[in-house]
Amino acid sequence: MLLTTAFVFHVVSGALWTGATLYVVYATLPRAADGTLGRAAFVDAAHRLLMVTRWTGVVLPVTGAYMIWRLYTPLGTLATTGRGWAVLAMLSLWGAMNGLVELGVLRMRREVDPDLGWGRYMAEGFPVDALAGVGGVPGSARLASVARPYLLASAGLAVLLLVDAALLAGGIPG
Ligand code: HEM
Repeated sequence: MLLTTAFVFHVVSGALWTGATLYVVYATLPRAADGTLGRAAFVDAAHRLLMVTRWTGVVLPVTGAYMIWRLYTPLGTLATTGRGWAVLAMLSLWGAMNGLVELGVLRMRREVDPDLGWGRYMAEGFPVDALAGVGGVPGSARLASVARPYLLASAGLAVLLLVDAALLAGGIPG
């Protein structure tokens, strides 16, 4: 029963996070880049993606660790089976994608707040209020160009994560 619950929370969190990342890249990044989407709307989308990243960034490793404990002990099976390698890949992709989203939004915020430290960024993210009193520069196109490499790489990793999860769901042999 607990394992089933862990699977449910894990899959829902994974779907929400990868879906949110792909949507921001597909629907907001190009429109921010060509200036059609206003700066506040783009910043809000990036901040909300960061919040989804952080919330699922608690749920995914906690449920994932529990699933490893239930399904892959002794832990050696992680390195000696095909499914174990797929799980290790999942863990690594999660870490890399987390870092990319955090850094991308940090780079965006530092465009309007160059002296921002890590502590304040971790506490606040990039709320729309941070734009108050900043004026019209940088615009959404500038923020999009700063975030673009990080968001595109995150989208690529999101696709790889989904492929990895599909391989596990499709039952690659132990
Ligand atoms: C800390 C990071 C993560 C860890 C430790 C982890 C671990 C695991 C483990 C142990 C399983 C069970 C594998 C099995 O059935 O044998 C699993 C399944 C799954 N994971 Fe993750 N995972 C992580 C991140 C993610 C992320 C970011 C996604 C986003 C797509 C994801 C999506 C899934 C899905 C959809 C399944 C179900 C696959 C199935 O049907 O068996 N996981 N994960």
